[in-house]
Amino acid sequence: MTALEGVDIDIRAGEFVSIIGPSGCGKSTLFNMLAGLIKPSAGKIYLDGGEPDSLLGKIGYMPQKDLLMPWRTVLDNVTLGLEMDGTRRRKARAQAMEELPRFGLKGFEQRWPRSLSGGMRQRAALLRTFLAGREVMLLDEPFGALDALTRQAMQEWLLELWATDRKTVVFITHDVEEAVYLSDRVHVMSGRPGRVELSLDITLPRPRSYEMTVSPEFNALKQQLLEPLHEASRKQMEEVR
Ligand SMILES: Nc1ncnc2c1ncn2[C@@H]1O[C@H](COP(=O)(O)OP(=O)(O)OP(=O)(O)O)[C@@H](O)[C@H]1O
Ligand SMILES: [Mg+2]
Repeated sequence: MTALEGVDIDIRAGEFVSIIGPSGCGKSTLFNMLAGLIKPSAGKIYLDGGEPDSLLGKIGYMPQKDLLMPWRTVLDNVTLGLEMDGTRRRKARAQAMEELPRFGLKGFEQRWPRSLSGGMRQRAALLRTFLAGREVMLLDEPFGALDALTRQAMQEWLLELWATDRKTVVFITHDVEEAVYLSDRVHVMSGRPGRVELSLDITLPRPRSYEMTVSPEFNALKQQLLEPLHEASRKQMEEVR
């Protein structure tokens, strides 16, 4: 099966970029390639102007499922990336403890993942990705499973975090409003095989605020994205019928 075809995108350092497209169009496949987990059968991926032999371990990745390990406490979950990099356990823990408040997890370090709310689980998974300390972070639908209010709070929080740390973030979502609200640029993908149909600069000023989401500018951007997205989703549905 050809999952992707004609994906040509540039991501600049420090940018917040979103990728949106119908289910099954290859978004997670693209992330798996960027993270070095699978090799593209054609095409190239450059990082910092070079073409690394392997991308494995060079890029932070929060996969679509949060994948917290149920047998590890929150603290031992979030230090996993550091430990895999060879950081001493004690040092990893100290680093994590320092970041817990910023991720709204202070006091929860000894809890089990199953006792956390959905939003907290997502923040724990984000903290794990964040602690791994890579300049580029891939976030695959991190807020997909959250209710609208929690999601909104998490978006604001993520923007604050991003404004402070200025990592490069590549973000997958199904939600046009979320994509516009968060991003510097949004890439719309077509149905399988996934292609980039449209790349749209989000010219809204920063810092963003929720009032903006009802402004005419915001709606105009949303409209521009919705059209190719609906077309892609419609085609995708036809194909699987
Ligand atoms: N390991 C694999 N072997 C064969 N086909 C695969 C494999 N992984 C993904 N696919 C197929 O590739 C296509 C793209 O899958 P992918 O998971 O990247 O989609 P997606 O855009 O992330 O979807 P969603 O929005 O539902 O998460 C799908 O048709 C899927 O069935
Ligand atoms: Mg996916």
